[in-house]
Amino acid sequence: MSAPNNSFDPVEVTALHPDEVARMREEALAAIAAAGDLARLKEVRLAHAGDRSPLALANREIGALPPAARSEAGKRVGGARRDVSEALKRRQAELEEERDARVLVEEAVDVTLPWDRRHRGARHPLTTVAERMADIFVGMGFEVAEGPEVEAEWFNFDALNFLPDHPARTMQDTFFVESAAGGDSGLVLRTHTSPVQVRALLGRELPVYVVAPGRTFRTDELDATHSPVFHQLEGMVVDEGITMAHLRGAIDAFVSGMFGSGLRTRFRPSYFPFTEPSAEVDMECFVCRGASVGDPDAPCRTCGSEGWIEIGGCGVMNPRVLVAAGVDPERYSGWAFGLGVERTLMFAHGVRDMHDMVEGDVRFTSAFGMEI
Ligand code: PHE
Repeated sequence: MSAPNNSFDPVEVTALHPDEVARMREEALAAIAAAGDLARLKEVRLAHAGDRSPLALANREIGALPPAARSEAGKRVGGARRDVSEALKRRQAELEEERDARVLVEEAVDVTLPWDRRHRGARHPLTTVAERMADIFVGMGFEVAEGPEVEAEWFNFDALNFLPDHPARTMQDTFFVESAAGGDSGLVLRTHTSPVQVRALLGRELPVYVVAPGRTFRTDELDATHSPVFHQLEGMVVDEGITMAHLRGAIDAFVSGMFGSGLRTRFRPSYFPFTEPSAEVDMECFVCRGASVGDPDAPCRTCGSEGWIEIGGCGVMNPRVLVAAGVDPERYSGWAFGLGVERTLMFAHGVRDMHDMVEGDVRFTSAFGMEI
C-alpha cells in the first residue's frame, strides 16, 4: 500500500492549467483595452494585476506543483503576468496622453477675450500711510480726533494765537470762503490740522492725548513738492507735568515705528504762534544715515546729501492756546506736532513727484496694493 500523494492536489492547481492561464491573460488584456479612462484603468489594475488577482493567486499555487512541473508553470504564469503588466503600462501612457490633450483643449484660455473691465480698486496710499502714522500713536494710547475741512477762521487762526495781521492770514496762503452774499463768511479751508487741537480740548475731559489726520489747503501751485491740497497728522498731549522731553520721546517712537529703529531725530528752533518753544523736526536720512554729507562721490537723492530729512513742526503749547480752549495753564501743560503725510509717503515709498499723488491715475494707486 502506498502513502497518499499529498504533494499533488489536482483541485488546487486547476488555475495553473495552460488554458486557464491563457483565459486569465485574455480576460485581463480585454479589460485593459476596454478601460476608457485612468480611474477605470486603476480598477482594472487592481482586479488583474493586484495581490488578489487571479494571476497572482495562480502564481502562489506554483509551489504546490510537483517540482518537475514548476518551471513550466512558472514560465506560463510569469509570461502572462508580464504581458498584463506591459499592457497596463501601454494603456496608462495612452490614457495619460489622451487626458493631457483633452485638458489642453478644455482648459485653453482665449487671451483675445475682453477681460473684466471693472478694475478692483485700491485705497490711496495717502490714506493708508496716514492711517499707519496715526496707528503708531494709537498704539501709545492716543485717540483719533477730527475737525472740519471748512473751518472757522477763529479755530484756524485766532484761537491758535495768530494775530490779525499775521502773514499766514493773507490771501497768498489761505483759501477764504465767500459768504452767499459775496462777503467774508468767517470760514476758511483749514491751512493746517492745528485747529483740531482746540476742538479736541473743547470737546473732551482732560487729560487729552489725540492725533488728527486730515486734509489741509494752501494757495500753492502744484509742482513736484507742493500741492494746494495736502495732508497732515496733528498730534497733541495736554496733561499735568508734560514737558518737551515727552514730545521728543513720542517723535522718536513715531520715526522708529514708521521708518525703522535706530534713526536719530533732531529739533531745530523755529516759530509757530501756537507753540513756545517751537521746533522743526528732522529725522536722520534712513537711506544714507548721514554718510553722504560732504562726500561728493556718494550723493544721496533722498536727503539731498543733507543727512537729515524734515518731517514736520512741533512745540510746547503756548499757554494762550490753552486759555482759548478753556484749559488752566497753571495746572496743565502740553505739546503738539504736525507731520506731513505727503512727505512721509515720499520718503517711505520713494515717491518723487507730488503729481503722482494727486492726479488720480489708478496705476499709481494699484501699485501699493490693497491695504486694509
Ligand atoms: N501747524 C503747523 C504747520 O502746519 C505745524 C505744527 C503743528 C507746529 C503743531 C507746531 C505744533 O506748519
